Amino acid sequence: PEPQQSRPPRAEILVASNRGPVSHTLRDDGSLAVRRGGGGLVSGLSALGPGAGTWVCAALNEADRQAARRRPGGLLDPADTAGQTVRMLDIPAETFEAAYNGVANSALWFVHHLLYQTPLEPAFDTEFEKQWAHYEEYNAAFARALAEEAAPGARVLVQDYHLALVPGLLRELRPDLRIGHFSHTPWAPPDFFRMLPGHAARAVLRGILGADRAAFLTRRWARSFADCCAEVLGAEVSGDAIVLEGRRVSTGVHGLGADAGFLRERAAREDVDERLAALREQIGTAPDGTPRRTVVRVDRTELSKNIVRGLLAYRRLLADHPEWHRRVVHVAFAYPSRQDLEVYRSYTAEVSRVAGAVNAEFGTAGWTPVVLHVKDDFARSLAAYRLADVALVNPIRDGMNLVAKEVPVVSESGCALVLSREAGACAELGEDALVVNPYDITDTARALHDGLTMPPEERAARSERLAAAATALPPRQWFLDQLTALDSGPS
Ligand code: G6P
Repeated sequence: PEPQQSRPPRAEILVASNRGPVSHTLRDDGSLAVRRGGGGLVSGLSALGPGAGTWVCAALNEADRQAARRRPGGLLDPADTAGQTVRMLDIPAETFEAAYNGVANSALWFVHHLLYQTPLEPAFDTEFEKQWAHYEEYNAAFARALAEEAAPGARVLVQDYHLALVPGLLRELRPDLRIGHFSHTPWAPPDFFRMLPGHAARAVLRGILGADRAAFLTRRWARSFADCCAEVLGAEVSGDAIVLEGRRVSTGVHGLGADAGFLRERAAREDVDERLAALREQIGTAPDGTPRRTVVRVDRTELSKNIVRGLLAYRRLLADHPEWHRRVVHVAFAYPSRQDLEVYRSYTAEVSRVAGAVNAEFGTAGWTPVVLHVKDDFARSLAAYRLADVALVNPIRDGMNLVAKEVPVVSESGCALVLSREAGACAELGEDALVVNPYDITDTARALHDGLTMPPEERAARSERLAAAATALPPRQWFLDQLTALDSGPS
């Protein structure tokens, strides 16, 4: 007789991403604690109902690896995943570290965000070549797992720069599948992309072109990708099709929006009220007794988010406009990210140092000009969104930037949005935001002042239009649109 089927049936819809919908930590007693994450993919897949798809992700740390090893095939306990089928890949630590920190978060992330700007970096040598071999192995592990989990003709949505080689590898294993790749980052223009060693540049492009469809957050990034394919591979580009060696791949754009229903409901809960009260207390009141005005930012402490120049722009505002002294507070939340990388650790220290310097220069007994919080707390982020007068979103370059879309949805009295022209969100929000050049401190300081002095009616009207534009494509629809587009594309 057939052995008892203990695995879920092969899936019709699959998602693959480095970071999955759950993560684990080890408690002091050695047991595992599970945390569920949010984001567009989580709510997108949940739109299909429990168990409707399989999500393949990597174990990111030792606790994840233990969790993956404890379950047959790395299939997590559905009780921990809200019924979702999640296969967590137990990739050897050395391979994971080299693929994630080395190739993905250093080389590829830096190239796409134009972060290499010194005469010393990048310098791709034998270390990179070793990391690259691990990146290939890590991508191959994903391709093998997807090939095992996918039903005949299934649709697979592969996410981001970590998994650039997966579409090509998966197509070789399973030519019957329909494969989409989605980039959540910007895409580098050819002059920058060509910094990568030639074999890596070609492999990344060819890998993604293994998909039926390559999708991006804005037109601009889709165009850059096509430009790179033309210039590096000699592919032919016509309209939204890229043709390489007779195979046709379409490009698409899906501008992920904010989830209005979720945000408004979550922001109205008691824990957010409590944090709002605590923040108001910390911010304090102006000499005339009214609450101080606020400039709010919420980011991962990420080089591309440009937090230090944001602080310098706020410093410029205080230096040029003494009338704001004791009347405004910069509420800056900068949550630790990618701390395995030395350049992120020193950037994190620099953010604290500059915030401290602004407070030392301008602060008084009853006024702290910059309130910096570094401990990740979603409820407190929502509290800050609620009280924002001005939201500061000034990345050097950003795929989309969801904070720019979320603050106008949650803010209580309407906020002005100071927005970098280099954020993908600017394509949709540019008309009602105060758009800045993220390298220009004077320009950014002027926009902060304009935001703070904007008449309340204008601010509220703009904020309402921003919220409408920001929620035009909610996560579920964003996800479903990609599945639909995958069905209708050329095969
Ligand atoms: C960006 C990437 C995501 C990534 C996220 C957090 O948004 O596009 O793929 O998950 O940053 O970074 P982390 O390295 O912590 O996963």
